[in-house]
Amino acid sequence: MTTYNLALIGFGGVNRALATLIRDEPHRFAALGFELRVVAITDLAFGSLVQEEGIDLATVLAMPRGANFEGLRGGSSEPRNEEVIKNSPADIVVEATFTSPVDGEPAVSHVRWALAAGKHVVTTNKGPVALHGRELNALAKENSASFEYEGSVMSGTPVLRLAQKMFEGLQLKGVQGILNGTSNYVLGRMEAGLRLGEAIAEAQEHGYAEADPTADIGGSDVRLKVAILANELLGASLHPDEVDTIGIQEITSDQVAQALANGQRWKLIGEATRGTDGKITASVRPATLTADHPLAGISGATNAVSFETDLLGAVTVSGPGAGRTETAYALVSDIAAVDAFINGGVHV
Ligand code: HSE
Repeated sequence: MTTYNLALIGFGGVNRALATLIRDEPHRFAALGFELRVVAITDLAFGSLVQEEGIDLATVLAMPRGANFEGLRGGSSEPRNEEVIKNSPADIVVEATFTSPVDGEPAVSHVRWALAAGKHVVTTNKGPVALHGRELNALAKENSASFEYEGSVMSGTPVLRLAQKMFEGLQLKGVQGILNGTSNYVLGRMEAGLRLGEAIAEAQEHGYAEADPTADIGGSDVRLKVAILANELLGASLHPDEVDTIGIQEITSDQVAQALANGQRWKLIGEATRGTDGKITASVRPATLTADHPLAGISGATNAVSFETDLLGAVTVSGPGAGRTETAYALVSDIAAVDAFINGGVHV
């Protein structure tokens, strides 16, 4: 069986959920024809740990925040990201750090270092893809490496690959979606009578929110995802700054209650549309939807995208859009894609 060595960059909720799957459910990977061995972990809180023969995941998963890797063989209290990414014996760099939605750092640098060193990269971070997707895909190609980022939109719901497959032979005219689990969860809790701040605190407890939830509530998280959808699926080359963005921060409990009384629901809608001139325009803004709209029934941290096609009309896909294990699944599907890139998924 093929073994892939992984470096986990960032040891927060998502990579911890992946490490838990690797420790507890190796059959999941064996069924795909490979096994995964974590040879390096770096994290701002824990430092760095490199063990070529494979790190004992039970030990590191049991370490509380505040502890660090210094006492362990191959461990240090310093994150040493650059050194680990470039020099550890990892085949695949798994990038899941807390990253700024404004400049995509530190994830952008991590991805650049890894691809330039010829390592395959899987990431759940949107910044590198939305802000530098073209450059990083070119860098991957130059270095015969695979760059996979299914979790950058709709977390574990594999909407990018699904759409690429599903719409072969169709023309896609536009996409419209609920693309932020936190804001959708918050709007739902406001319908149940909670205030904005209380609802955000709950979303943070569930692990849906970004490190700074203003990215969720203010729409900048959706802006990145809309740019990714437009670029990946509509062939646009949009920078997120070109996506007109309004978040839900100004929506009041009264407005939410009023809409409900009128049989409507407030939703944060991201969309990208191909105009008759072929130009793609995109926006993020709150809207009230009537019950017959395909996105009106999407509740909690669920996300959905409605694809407008020429021959089928609207096709809507919904599924988890946030959450630790859900997002870790995106990494699993990306690692399977790396495996397919390396050897076509064929194992002897
Ligand atoms: N904070 C994001 C959300 C996580 O709530 O949708 C997934 O990008």
